[in-house]
Amino acid sequence: MLADASSVDWSTFDPFDPSVRVDPYPHYARLREVAPCLRLERYGVWLVTSYGAVDRVLRDWRTFSSGQGAALEPAASPEEGGVILSTDPPEHTRIRRAVSKDFTPKMVSNLEPGVRSLAERTIDAALGEAQVDWVNALARPLPTVTMAKLMGYPEKHQEQYCLWASTIFNAMGCPAKEMDGPGFSEVAGQLYSFVTELATNHEYVANGWGDRLVQAGDRGELTASEVQSLLGGILVAAMDTTVNMLGNLAYSLTTHPDQWQLLRDSPDLADSAVNESLRFESPVQPGFFRVATEDVQVEGVTIPKGARVMVAFGSANRDRRQFKDADTFLIGRTPNDHLAFGRGTHFCLGAPVARLIGRVVLEELSARVGTLALAGEAVLKNNRMLRGFDVLPLRLAA
Ligand code: HEM
Repeated sequence: MLADASSVDWSTFDPFDPSVRVDPYPHYARLREVAPCLRLERYGVWLVTSYGAVDRVLRDWRTFSSGQGAALEPAASPEEGGVILSTDPPEHTRIRRAVSKDFTPKMVSNLEPGVRSLAERTIDAALGEAQVDWVNALARPLPTVTMAKLMGYPEKHQEQYCLWASTIFNAMGCPAKEMDGPGFSEVAGQLYSFVTELATNHEYVANGWGDRLVQAGDRGELTASEVQSLLGGILVAAMDTTVNMLGNLAYSLTTHPDQWQLLRDSPDLADSAVNESLRFESPVQPGFFRVATEDVQVEGVTIPKGARVMVAFGSANRDRRQFKDADTFLIGRTPNDHLAFGRGTHFCLGAPVARLIGRVVLEELSARVGTLALAGEAVLKNNRMLRGFDVLPLRLAA
């Protein structure tokens, strides 16, 4: 059931509650007015919802540290929290430099023909069907296959990638004592065994990103546990985020037929449409965490030293002080300085890959499809840190 934002008792507000997650935006709109920096009693953390404050927290790593992990509860170690996400400069600078050196624009552009041909084939197949589940047919396989190619992973276990990623994301927003089903440690253990086994068996494709990270370890630029954490962590960071972006993108276009028509008339808006979808329905929600390293004022409220702070990307991206008509989906929006990929030190390393996948899918979709319509009930994903669909039945017609 949908919670009513006008009657919420903010002292007990829970952004992870399923009734809020169905449609979080009225809650965030109200919060930005009445309490843009709110202590969540249930979790003992601070929720920051205005664009200005989220932007500030993300830029100021000295005051808002990632060193104790980006999740609701502290990571047992940087490796467990994802070594790149859970460190501050100068350690983070060293790791990010080693990782970025091996992740070139050429590696990203080389992915385009494969993404295009899979998108083409999937869309053509969908045109012959009465309806398709967009998530199952395209949104999930496309990033899975693309990431395996980028990392240079063999084909085995690809069906596990999304499961590993979504379980780990969900655990990031869940108190350990409330977790049901396989816990974080169990799933992270499977993922890390997988990536380590590939390295031990020399199964990474030569000169793919995975192989290059292993080589960086061999040269002593990264420690063995950093290499392992990166190989697994990048997969997690890349997978369900991009799946949800593709689902949200298709959903927003079906529910805004004027914007779909605009895209068909002006396919060169594909890039901009991806950007707008990331703003309008940000895949990472409510958001990642930092820890205050000193007492600090945010939106007139003092956050005490040591407190965990959650930055609500999806709320910041709907802040009308930053975006005109913030609650309207406009694929030609410019400027569009959204925060869906974060900002500052930890800005998403894989943003060019996600953008490429989104753009190519929209180019192929707008070239081949005339009618794009919902064909059944869309089912939202039940995940505490991600916003997107588990099922999205669509009808595609030429
Ligand atoms: C639409 C898809 C994606 C979204 C919405 C997204 C979102 C984000 C966000 C919000 C952060 C910042 C975390 C923080 O500030 O604590 C981040 C970091 C990161 N992302 Fe993405 N991401 C996406 C796709 C990808 C892909 C495809 C890859 C890999 C190819 C990737 C790899 C990473 C890595 C490695 C980091 C950590 C960077 C660092 O800590 O320096 N992401 N992502």
